[in-house]
Amino acid sequence: MLLETINLTKTFGGLKALEEVSLSIEKVKVTSLIGPNGAGKTTFFNCVTGMIIPTMGTSYFQGNLISNLKSYIISRRGIARTFQHSRLFSEMTVLDNVMIGGYVHSLPTNKSFLRAICRGKPYRTQENALRKKALELLDFVGIFRRFDFPSRSLSYGDKRRLEIARALASSPTLLLLDEPAAGMNSKETEELMVLIGQIRSLGITPFLIEHNMKMVMGISDHVIVLDHGVKIAEGTPQAIQGNAKVIEAYLGKTTP
Ligand SMILES: Nc1ncnc2c1ncn2[C@@H]1O[C@H](COP(=O)(O)OP(=O)(O)OP(=O)(O)O)[C@@H](O)[C@H]1O
Ligand SMILES: [Mg+2]
Repeated sequence: MLLETINLTKTFGGLKALEEVSLSIEKVKVTSLIGPNGAGKTTFFNCVTGMIIPTMGTSYFQGNLISNLKSYIISRRGIARTFQHSRLFSEMTVLDNVMIGGYVHSLPTNKSFLRAICRGKPYRTQENALRKKALELLDFVGIFRRFDFPSRSLSYGDKRRLEIARALASSPTLLLLDEPAAGMNSKETEELMVLIGQIRSLGITPFLIEHNMKMVMGISDHVIVLDHGVKIAEGTPQAIQGNAKVIEAYLGKTTP
C-alpha cells in the first residue's frame, strides 16, 4: 500500500469533519475521493499532508508513520498536493511558481542557507537544475509557452495546470489533487483526464477529490465515498454508481 489511514478523525469544536476514516491507496492506480459538499474530503487531504493535525488516528506512507510529521517533511517524503482554491503567486512568473515547488527538497539547512545568501556555485548549479526541471514540467503540462508571464495572466484551466506542475516539481510519488476540474469546461476536463493518465504513466499515483462524475467515472480505478465525515462506500466506479448509500447521500443533499 502506498498510503494507509487508520481511524483518521478530525473534529472542529463539536463538528466531526472526519470520523474514523480508514482507507488504503494502491500504487499507480487512480483513486477518487467523492462526497457531497462538506463531507470532509479537503479535511482528509489536509490531515494526510500534515497541514492540520488529526484529532485521532494515524496515516502511513510507504509503510512509515507520517501523521506526526510536519507538512514539509511529508512533502519531502513524496506526497504533493494541489489546492481547491488556487494558491498561486499571481504576480510571479509561471516559471517561478513551479520552481517554488522544487525548493521543498532544498530548504536551507544552516550551512546551505549561508551558501544560498552568498549565491555561491553550488547554489547556482542547484538553481539551474531546478529551472531546467521546471521548464520540462511546464512543457509536460502544456503551458511552456507562457513560462515568462505572470501567473495571473493564465486562463483558469492553465492555472490549474500550473498548480499541477508546481506539485510535480517536488518529485512526488503520490499526487493529491483537490477538485482539479472545478470550473473547467468539458474540453479542458477531457485534456485534464489525459494529463492525469500521463502522470500515472510516470509512476506517480494520482489521488483526486472530484465532483465531476463524468471524470470520476472515466478515470478512476477505485472510488471512495465520504458523507458527513464517514466513509460510506468504496469500490469500482460501476459499483459506486449503483450503491444505495451513495445515491441516498447525494439525493439527500438535494432534497429540500
Ligand atoms: N478549519 C476549519 N475550522 C472549522 N470547520 C472546518 C474547518 N475546515 C473544515 N471545516 C468544516 O468541516 C467540514 C468538512 O469540510 P471540508 O472542507 O473538508 O469538506 P469537503 O468535503 O472538502 O467539501 P467541498 O466539496 O465543499 O469542498 C465542513 O462542515 C467544514 O465547514
Ligand atoms: Mg473541499
